[in-house]
Amino acid sequence: MTKLLQGRVAFVTGGASGLGRATALAFGLEGATVAVVDLNEAAAAETAALLRSAGTQAWSGKLDVTDKAAVDECVDGIAARFGKLDIAFNNAGVSLEDFGVAWDDLARIDKTMDINFRGVLLCMSAELRHMAPARRGAIVNTSSIAGISSAGGTGYCASKHAVIGLTRTAACRYAAQGVRVNAVCPGVIETAMTKPILENPEGRKILESMQPMLRLGRPEDVADAVVFLVSDKASFITGHPLVVDGGHMAR
Ligand code: NAI
Repeated sequence: MTKLLQGRVAFVTGGASGLGRATALAFGLEGATVAVVDLNEAAAAETAALLRSAGTQAWSGKLDVTDKAAVDECVDGIAARFGKLDIAFNNAGVSLEDFGVAWDDLARIDKTMDINFRGVLLCMSAELRHMAPARRGAIVNTSSIAGISSAGGTGYCASKHAVIGLTRTAACRYAAQGVRVNAVCPGVIETAMTKPILENPEGRKILESMQPMLRLGRPEDVADAVVFLVSDKASFITGHPLVVDGGHMAR
């Protein structure tokens, strides 16, 4: 049976752990060649090693998504190395706030916007320079249920709302050039990001009880949605923020 992403070249940011690693592995299982980047170079290399041990062609490198020159060089390098760029998952992100912090703490908000919003913008801009002339490409950006609600701190919520705005504007601008741009809005998923809350049994219990499915999300739940969005099965879907939250936002 033909795999969904056979022959495609995919780029994943924040690929060292959590949603990024699970999605990189899912891209590989569906036949893509995968380039994984992260601030954490060693863990990104582990993801690439996992991909290679499953028979996937993979490359990894260190990248800070807030560094424009480094992002341009990295994306150009991947396109040159593999001959093209078909797929991008712009997923690197942080959650720096906690509810003890002032809602208008500018330093945290600026830093969060820099990584979660500006990082996605810089990556998309570099990716689109390859995809648009090829008249082919599919991008997914990681937003959050905090991108469509107030579920999070000020900077985090603003950054994830901004990712959806950016996704929609890029989707409309590049639709006629054959590039689709969508977002995923995960609910509460068990990763390093949520570990500080989830390792407290009480915190975990409260969060689980808030989910209609009475369970938290797994990175693979999000990875499957991203695979769908970048595949030809989603060929008429662009500009869409897809909620992957076990029903959380439907309550
Ligand atoms: P994670 O902490 O496991 O992974 C995030 C990765 O991004 C890390 O490997 C980290 O090193 C990398 N990163 C951080 N800053 C970077 C930078 N400047 N340049 C390059 N890489 C950088 O967390 P998780 O949960 O996998 O998060 C992935 C994305 O999913 C984030 O954008 C997060 O906001 C989003 N998200 C996560 C949810 C959850 O419940 N875990 C829910 C909704 C959205």
